[in-house]
Amino acid sequence: MNLRIPEDLTRAGRELAGQLYDARMRELELFADLNDAQLLGPRLRIIEPPIWEIGHVGWFQERWILRRLDKAAPLREDADALYDSFNIPNARRWDLPFPSRQETLAYIQAVLERSLRRLQAKEPTEEEIYFYRLATYHEDMHTETLHHIRQTLGYACPNLPSTQALRLPLPIELDFEPHDVSIPGGTYCLGATPDIPFVFDNEKWAHPVQVRPFRISATPVTNAEFQAFVAAGGYHDRSLWSDEGWAWRASARAEHPVYWKHQADGTWLWRRWDRLAPLEPYHPIIHVNWYEANAYCAWAGRRLPTEAEWELAASAEPTPDGRGFTAAKRRYPWDDAPPSPEKANLDSRALGCVDVRALPAGDSAFGCRQMIGNVWEWTADTFGPYPGFVLDPYAEYSAPSFGQQKVLRGGCWATRSGLIRNTFRNFYTPDRNNIFAGFRTCAL
Ligand code: AVJ
Ligand code: FE
Repeated sequence: MNLRIPEDLTRAGRELAGQLYDARMRELELFADLNDAQLLGPRLRIIEPPIWEIGHVGWFQERWILRRLDKAAPLREDADALYDSFNIPNARRWDLPFPSRQETLAYIQAVLERSLRRLQAKEPTEEEIYFYRLATYHEDMHTETLHHIRQTLGYACPNLPSTQALRLPLPIELDFEPHDVSIPGGTYCLGATPDIPFVFDNEKWAHPVQVRPFRISATPVTNAEFQAFVAAGGYHDRSLWSDEGWAWRASARAEHPVYWKHQADGTWLWRRWDRLAPLEPYHPIIHVNWYEANAYCAWAGRRLPTEAEWELAASAEPTPDGRGFTAAKRRYPWDDAPPSPEKANLDSRALGCVDVRALPAGDSAFGCRQMIGNVWEWTADTFGPYPGFVLDPYAEYSAPSFGQQKVLRGGCWATRSGLIRNTFRNFYTPDRNNIFAGFRTCAL
C-alpha cells in the first residue's frame, strides 16, 4: 500500500493511525490475489461479493470519521447506494454497478489518507478516539469475513505476508486428554466493565446473574468426537434434532459437516480452501451451525453452555478453597495481558485451527483451554440486550439482530487480537455453517 502517512502525529494519533493501517494491510492482502471474476463471485445468501467488502470498509470509515466528525461531503456520490449494508438487501448486492478494482482501491485509500491526515499535529479527542477505533474494529471484522468468503467459495488459501514472521511451532501437550472442569455457582457479573478501552453496546454493562454449579469441557469438541456422532447416524436420527434443526437439515440435505467429503475407503477429508485435507482428529470441529452443535449435544448427553457459563469459565478466578469464585474478572482467560502467540491462535498466524491440546499458557483460571482463538464457540443463548441497554452511535450493529441470532464467544484463528476479549459477543443466525465456528459442551 503506497500510503502517505503524516509525520507529525501525537502518540495517541500514531496509535490510532497504526491500527487503521494494520487493519487495511490485512484487508488488502486478503483481496490482492483474487481475479475479476472472483471479486464478484457467485450469488449466495450467506456471503457478500469480495468487491463489495472492500468498498464497504472504506465507506464505513468515511461515514464515521470524515462525514460524521468533519461533516465532510461524501467522496463518491454513489457510495451510500453501493456500500450501506443496512439499506441494501443482500440479494441485490450482485446487481450493483460496482466501480472497478482500481477505482474501489483508490476510493478506500483516499478515505484512509484523509482519515490519517486529520490526526496531524493535534491530540485526538475522546470522540475521535472512539470513531477511529470503531472503524478499525469494523475493518477487522470484515477481514475475518473475507477469510470465510474465501473458504465458502473454495478460493486459495490466503497469502498473508504480514503474519509470516509470527508463525511459531506450537507446543502440544500430547498427554492432555479432553476432560471436564467443575465450576462453582454463584452470582457472576456478566458483561463488560468500564475499564475496557472500547466495547460495543451489546456488552454493556456488567450486571449480576445467578449461575448454578456446572461442568464444562476444558477443550472444544474435536473432529474425532464429531466424527463418532456422524458415524453413529446422528444426521439421520430425528430424535436428536429440534423441529427447526431437522427442517434445516432436510433443506440443506446435510448428512455431515458442510465441507466434509467421504472417501471410498471410509475415511473423511474436508475441503480446506481449494483442496482436500485430512481431518485432524485433535483439531476442533469447525464449520458446524447451531443446529448441528445441538444435535451433537443431544447424542452425547451434553448441552451448550449459556453465555454466562462461558464467560464465567473464561474470566473468573476460584476462591482459595475452590468452592466459589472471587469478584475479579479477567479480560482474557490467562489474565489482563493482551493475547500473544503462545496463549491464543488469533490473527491468522496459523491460517487455520490448531490442536485442542496446544497453547496451555492460555488456559483460564479454571483450566479451560483456547477459550480465546482457534474456533468461535456457539452458546445456547439467543442474542439479546443486557439490562439497561442503550444504543451506541452505530445503531445498526447489534439491535437489529436481537432475538434473531445465536451468540458465539471467544473468537477464532482469523479474529484480530485487538478485537477479542472475554466479554465480546458475536452473533449469527443458527443455520450459518460457513463461519469459523465450533463449540464446547457442558455436562447435563
Ligand atoms: C457481528 C460479525 C456478525 O459481519 O455481520 C460488520 C459484524 N456488522 N459490519 C457481521 C458487522 C456490520 C457482524 N458480525
Ligand atoms: Fe460492515
